[in-house]
Amino acid sequence: MRNNRQPPFQHRARPASFELRWVAACDINPEALKARADEFDIPGRYLSVNDLLSDPAVDAVVIATPPSFHLEPTVAALKAKKHVLVEKPIALNANEVQKMLDARGAGMVAACCSSRFRTTATAHRATEIMASKKLGKIRRLVCTDLEPPPKKLNETLYLYKPNWGGLGILGEWGCYDLDYMLGICGWSLTPRIVLADIQKLQTIYAKKHPPCNDAEIQVSAKFRFRSGVTLDYRRANYFAGEARNEWTIECEQGTLNLPMIGKPKPQLIVHRYTSSGIKKMIIEEDHNTLSMLLAGPVLDFIDAIFENRAPLTDLKQALIIQSMTDAVYDSAKSGQAVSVDNAKYFSSKSKSKQ
Ligand SMILES: NC(=O)c1ccc[n+]([C@@H]2O[C@H](COP(=O)([O-])OP(=O)(O)OC[C@H]3O[C@@H](n4cnc5c(N)ncnc54)[C@H](O)[C@@H]3O)[C@@H](O)[C@H]2O)c1
Repeated sequence: MRNNRQPPFQHRARPASFELRWVAACDINPEALKARADEFDIPGRYLSVNDLLSDPAVDAVVIATPPSFHLEPTVAALKAKKHVLVEKPIALNANEVQKMLDARGAGMVAACCSSRFRTTATAHRATEIMASKKLGKIRRLVCTDLEPPPKKLNETLYLYKPNWGGLGILGEWGCYDLDYMLGICGWSLTPRIVLADIQKLQTIYAKKHPPCNDAEIQVSAKFRFRSGVTLDYRRANYFAGEARNEWTIECEQGTLNLPMIGKPKPQLIVHRYTSSGIKKMIIEEDHNTLSMLLAGPVLDFIDAIFENRAPLTDLKQALIIQSMTDAVYDSAKSGQAVSVDNAKYFSSKSKSKQ
């Protein structure tokens, strides 16, 4: 179990024995391989994943290929007994995550970068507060991020990407949102059911963009967890209105307001019920640069290997997020509420939680 008094990952002191070196790189594109290996002065250079995995200098790998190509190298690396950090979204569906889980041997660290926004100081403090149960039982979660379109009709903001298996904004951002909300709650909530809808590009933009831009750019979903807690989820690009976002956890004793992103600096705020009214407390403020944010999951992954512990988001938790994502797509397609915990991917262990 993590020591809750530790500072967030970016600010942690590490032992002198902590040694991290990029020893090898692999890309099927020789130019991309050379560019990246030169940039970081990486000695081992491979055009095939299996050749890289045969290099004895490699202890751990980061899978940073597009999502359609996460499964194969992840399974190969785990079978070769390498620790693995997979970029988000972990996979195209929960079935793929299950295959990764099946390939992981005992003692192997296998993590997903969807934990990125939980490596900040505000998320760290929010996790401590939730673990302390000082705000009482969770009643309701809210996650909303609405972004207006680019100023000009022809500019692309978020659209279809090849090698993403047709995933849109839910694949791109949903994994961060769900990881953030559930992870800060200590993975104590087991999703049961969801009713969702997704929307594609509005006609005015669709006319200006090539037809391949057919992934969803708006999603709304109501999740209900086994304990009765609900999550109101909404994420949209091309929203006709002012940008708006909110990440909150409503509890018996008050509400935690925990922006995942925000300008100028995300602040963690608690509003508490008191006998003299609502008391507002600013608990923490983030000062992370983008590179610190990007480094967060890598540092957690390396710490997890050295400390022989689970990473912030391991494959079991990635499977929960992916099952919720799959259920949103299923519900939007069928127009029906869809059961999440009946998915064949859910283990009986995670079903026993609240
Ligand atoms: N680009 C970003 O800023 C960013 C930020 C966060 C997360 N990510 C995640 O990183 C992953 C990669 O995204 P990207 O935008 O860098 O993708 P990309 O399309 O630029 O591809 C990255 C590289 O992977 C190589 N590649 C493709 N298939 C391969 C294979 N089978 N074996 C070896 N190499 C292969 C490509 O040649 C390319 O050089 C995605 O999961 C994405 O969500 C990207």
